[in-house]
Amino acid sequence: MSEIISKLEMKKITKKFPGVLACNNIDIYLKSGEILALLGENGAGKTTLMNVLFGLYQPEHGKIFINDKQVIINSPSTAFKYGIGMVHQHFMLVPNLTVVENVALGLIGKRIFKLDLNKVRKRIEEVSKEYGLSVNPNAYIWQLSVGEQQRVELIKVLCLGANLLILDEPTAALTPQETDELIVLLKQMAEKGRSIIFISHKLNEVKAVSNRVCVLRNGSLVYEGKTQKHSVATLAEKMAGREIYMPTLKEKSQANSPILEIKNVFAKGNMGTMALDGLSLTVSKGEIVGIAGVSGNGQKELADVINGISHIERGKILLNSKNIANLAPQQIINKGIGYIPEDRMHEGTIPSFSVKENIIMKDYNKKPLSKKMFLQNSIIEKYSQKLISNFDIKCPDNKTMCASLSGGNVQKVILARELSRKPKMLIAAYPIRGLDLGAAEYVHEQLLEARSENVGILLISEELDELLDICDRIAVIYEGKILEILDRDIATKTKLGLLMAGIKNEKKAI
Ligand SMILES: Nc1ncnc2c1ncn2[C@@H]1O[C@H](COP(=O)(O)OP(=O)(O)O)[C@@H](O)[C@H]1O
Ligand SMILES: [Mg+2]
Repeated sequence: MSEIISKLEMKKITKKFPGVLACNNIDIYLKSGEILALLGENGAGKTTLMNVLFGLYQPEHGKIFINDKQVIINSPSTAFKYGIGMVHQHFMLVPNLTVVENVALGLIGKRIFKLDLNKVRKRIEEVSKEYGLSVNPNAYIWQLSVGEQQRVELIKVLCLGANLLILDEPTAALTPQETDELIVLLKQMAEKGRSIIFISHKLNEVKAVSNRVCVLRNGSLVYEGKTQKHSVATLAEKMAGREIYMPTLKEKSQANSPILEIKNVFAKGNMGTMALDGLSLTVSKGEIVGIAGVSGNGQKELADVINGISHIERGKILLNSKNIANLAPQQIINKGIGYIPEDRMHEGTIPSFSVKENIIMKDYNKKPLSKKMFLQNSIIEKYSQKLISNFDIKCPDNKTMCASLSGGNVQKVILARELSRKPKMLIAAYPIRGLDLGAAEYVHEQLLEARSENVGILLISEELDELLDICDRIAVIYEGKILEILDRDIATKTKLGLLMAGIKNEKKAI
C-alpha cells in the first residue's frame, strides 16, 4: 500500500487540444481526509484536469506536488504507484471478459498477485463485502447494466488500494439508493485519511458529500470555497454563469389517442431469464409517460424490444395500431420511432464519426440527403450546420469527431438527429444522465416541445425529479412488469420510492 497523501497540489496546469484550451492555468489542492467536489458544465475541463493528474495527459505547463515534493506522473501506473486511482466517466472495462478478469487486468501491473483468478475473486468479494458493493464476479461485462459496470470500476480501484480517489461522475449511472450508499462509503473512506475528488452534476450529492468545491468554467477555475456556504441554486449559478430554471409541465395532457401500445409482452434479457414478464403500457400522442424503477428491472429490455434490438417471445407492440414487434431496427426507425439510448457512446453515436456523419446517420440514404445513390453534399452540409446551430451543439466544426465532444454535446447530437426526423414516438432512456443543469434544462425543453407537437414520449429514468417535472403519467417498472401507473397530480417521491422497491400497498408495508 502506498503512503497516505497528506497534501496534493496541482499548480498552474494548462492543457490544450487542437482548437481548445481545456485547462487554463488551474491551481487546485487537496488534503488528506478531504472530499473535494470538482464542478463545471459539460466541457468545462474537469475530466481533462483529472486525466492530467492520473497521468493520461501531459500538460503543456504546470506541476504536481505530493506532500510538497514535485512528482512527474506520466502514466496511470505511475499514478497508482503514488496511490492515485481513477474511476472514469466512460468505462474502461473489456466487455467480453468477466468481472474477475477485468479486475485482474488492473492488478497485473501492481504485482499484488500472480494472475491467480481465485485470489482475485476473493479480493473482489472482500472489497464488495466491506463496502457493500454487490456484484457477480463471474458475470461478463456485456451482461451488466451501466450501473453495475460502474460498480465494477469502483471495486477495481478499491482492490488496487488507492489513497486518493478520483471519481469522474460516479453516480451518473447509480440508482438513488446506490448513490446514498456510495456517499456513506466515501465519507468513511475520508475519515480513514483517504482523499477524494468527486465530479458530479447532481448538486444535492455535492452538498451531501463534499467539504469544498472548485468550479471550472471554459477551462478556468472560477471559484474555490467551502461547500456549506452554498445552496444548490448558487452552485448551479456559479457553474453556468447564469441562473437555471428547469422547465416543468403545467398540466397533464388530455390526449387519449394511443400511439404506442405494449400488450402483455414477454422477453428474455442478456442473462437468459424473463426480463419482461407480461408488461403492458400505452402511450398517447402528445403525452410523456415516465418509466420509474431501479435499474435492472427490465428498462433496458423494454427499450430494446420497442426498437427491434432484441426479440419478444410473446405479446404485441403496436405503433398506430400496427404490430411492430420483432421487426428489424431499420424498419422500426422507418415507421417513425426515435430513440435516445442509454449508452450514448456505443449505441447512440459512432464516436469515430464526425458530428455531421452522426447527424445524418439514419437518413443518409434517403431524399433529400441522397439522390439516385449519390450523397447530396451541399444539402448535407447545410442540414448539419442548421442542426448544430438550432441545437446549440458546441464543437469546433461539423467535422469534429463525436468522441472528442463532452457528454452534453454528444446528447445534443443525438437529440438533433432524432427530433429533426419528426418521430411519432420517442423512446428516451436516461436522457439527462451525466448532464449539467444547463444542458439538462435544454434537453427537457426539447422533449416538452416535441410533446407539444403531438409526439408520444416514453421517458425512462431513475431521477424522480426529472419524472415529476415533465411526465403526464409515471409508470413504475418492477421485475419486468408495470406495477402501477400514477397520474402526475398524485405522484410523489414517497409513493414512487415504495413502488420502486416493489411495495404496492403502503399499508401492508407498515
Ligand atoms: N481528447 C480530446 N481531444 C480533443 N478535445 C478534447 C479531448 N478531450 C476533451 N476535449 C475538449 O476539451 C474540453 C474539456 O473537456 P472535458 O475535460 O471532457 O470537460 P468536462 O469533463 O468538464 O465535461 C472540451 O471542449 C472537449 O471537447
Ligand atoms: Mg467529463
